[in-house]
Amino acid sequence: MTKTILDIQNLSISFDGFKALNNVSTKVEEGSIHFFIGPNGAGKTTLLDAICGFTKPTSGKIIYNEKYDVTKYKEYELVNIGIGRKFQVPSVFKSLTVYENMELAIKKNRNILASLFEKVTKQENQKIDEILTLIDLKEQRDMIASDLSHGQKQWLEIGMLLAQDLKLILLDEPVAGMGRRETTKTGELLKKISKHCTIIVVEHDMQFVRDYATKVTVLHEGAILDEGNVLDVQNNPKVISVYLGRGGENCA
Ligand SMILES: Nc1ncnc2c1ncn2[C@@H]1O[C@H](COP(=O)(O)OP(=O)(O)OP(=O)(O)O)[C@@H](O)[C@H]1O
Ligand SMILES: [Mg+2]
Repeated sequence: MTKTILDIQNLSISFDGFKALNNVSTKVEEGSIHFFIGPNGAGKTTLLDAICGFTKPTSGKIIYNEKYDVTKYKEYELVNIGIGRKFQVPSVFKSLTVYENMELAIKKNRNILASLFEKVTKQENQKIDEILTLIDLKEQRDMIASDLSHGQKQWLEIGMLLAQDLKLILLDEPVAGMGRRETTKTGELLKKISKHCTIIVVEHDMQFVRDYATKVTVLHEGAILDEGNVLDVQNNPKVISVYLGRGGENCA
């Protein structure tokens, strides 16, 4: 039986009276690649902000792993219980090498003093190697991050999340700006990762959604318009009318 890793209950978020999210309820199943799609301004990023503790909701709950209400925790506390997030813009340390970025990420699990003064252990080094192989950056290990291609920077950032032993990762537009080949490579990477980690993805690229989604939730003006499998959702006349029919695939 599948387990619900995230149970979003009646979530609302207002900014000065403007309802960016209005009574959103949905469940994310463990091990799934759950996509949130919808037009610009639909509230997708706001939802990720709430799940990772960056924005506090006006009302509602988000129950993680059947016991924690994430709305009551701070961002760093949520990383410790397994929730991590990649932002819309890549945030790797550009002047450091690929390896040094991974080293910083893996040390995030430690307290501050330990992360400053202790070297990475043999085990941690091995883990970095495994992740670099998974994200196909082993050959770029000593390259300065700013010299990586756009796609490679995105993969490095995903690798940095993996170094933190997360159970739920949130990705905001991970394939934006990528060509088809890099997009497919990202999808295959997510498939591998989802074997031991649940993934929530916000994306506009409908081909990518079709190829890799376990479940899709469509947001429109802060509310859920439809959800289910990709085929059903993309044939829903309401979804076509507010999003797909307006060239949703090409929105950035
Ligand atoms: N901090 C904020 N203060 C005020 N309004 C905000 C804030 N953050 C988001 N909004 C508004 O909430 C709405 C939802 O924004 P959000 O960024 O969640 O949309 P999105 O679905 O991620 O869109 P996109 O596809 O363009 O990234 C928008 O109208 C936005 O202007
Ligand atoms: Mg957004």
